[in-house]
Amino acid sequence: MKLLTDKIEREGIVLGNNVLKVDSFINHQMDPQLMNEIGLEFARRFKDAGVTRILTIESSGIAPAIMAGLAMNVPVIFARKRKSLTLTSDLYTSTVYSFTKQESNEITVSKKYLLKEDRVLIIDDFLANGQAAIGLADLVEQAGAEVSGIGILIEKSFQPGADEILKKGYRLESLARIASLQDGKVKFAADREVQSIYS
Ligand code: G4P
Ligand code: NA
Ligand code: NA
Repeated sequence: MKLLTDKIEREGIVLGNNVLKVDSFINHQMDPQLMNEIGLEFARRFKDAGVTRILTIESSGIAPAIMAGLAMNVPVIFARKRKSLTLTSDLYTSTVYSFTKQESNEITVSKKYLLKEDRVLIIDDFLANGQAAIGLADLVEQAGAEVSGIGILIEKSFQPGADEILKKGYRLESLARIASLQDGKVKFAADREVQSIYS
């Protein structure tokens, strides 16, 4: 998505060879006009997926998810992160390990807001190791619902998450794909659809 890759080129800051800081439009300050366009783009890409609900995770997934929910006219739920939890029977719970932070978090959603009839679009800001997205998909499956796809703003294609998700058979749509962050420079990868024509 050109609007997003342009914004990353103008405002993204590379830290080390692994991390892209996007505090000026996603992770701290947010750009509502860009988020609106991102919502419309997800709606376009998933228009035939029969989505009935969007699932994201606090905090940075919420803005793009709500804009996609507006564009698709479906409700949006965000999973909550908790350090540890006494078992509660009205929650679906999954454990997500963060390689970046080297800690585990429980993520939860209320059983009230994920129904077995649902076709769920999972949205998140970053895809790195894929643990958050896989945890969200696990919550959907615990509900007996279907994962209709995973929509990501920024995929770091040089990390294992994208392959893990594709290996599990989920449909993955990433609006920007980053091939590398070497030497302080963002190198983008081609869209997966475009790429597959040639591979
Ligand atoms: P994973 O879910 O793909 O396995 O990711 P990982 O544990 O490695 O990432 C932990 C946190 O760091 C996540 O945010 C994720 O969005 C974020 N993250 C990963 N790589 C980058 C990056 O290159 N740039 C930025 N800006 N963030 C990155 P979180 O802790 O869940 O926080 P929140 O922002 O959603 O509250
Ligand atoms: Na996130
Ligand atoms: Na984040």
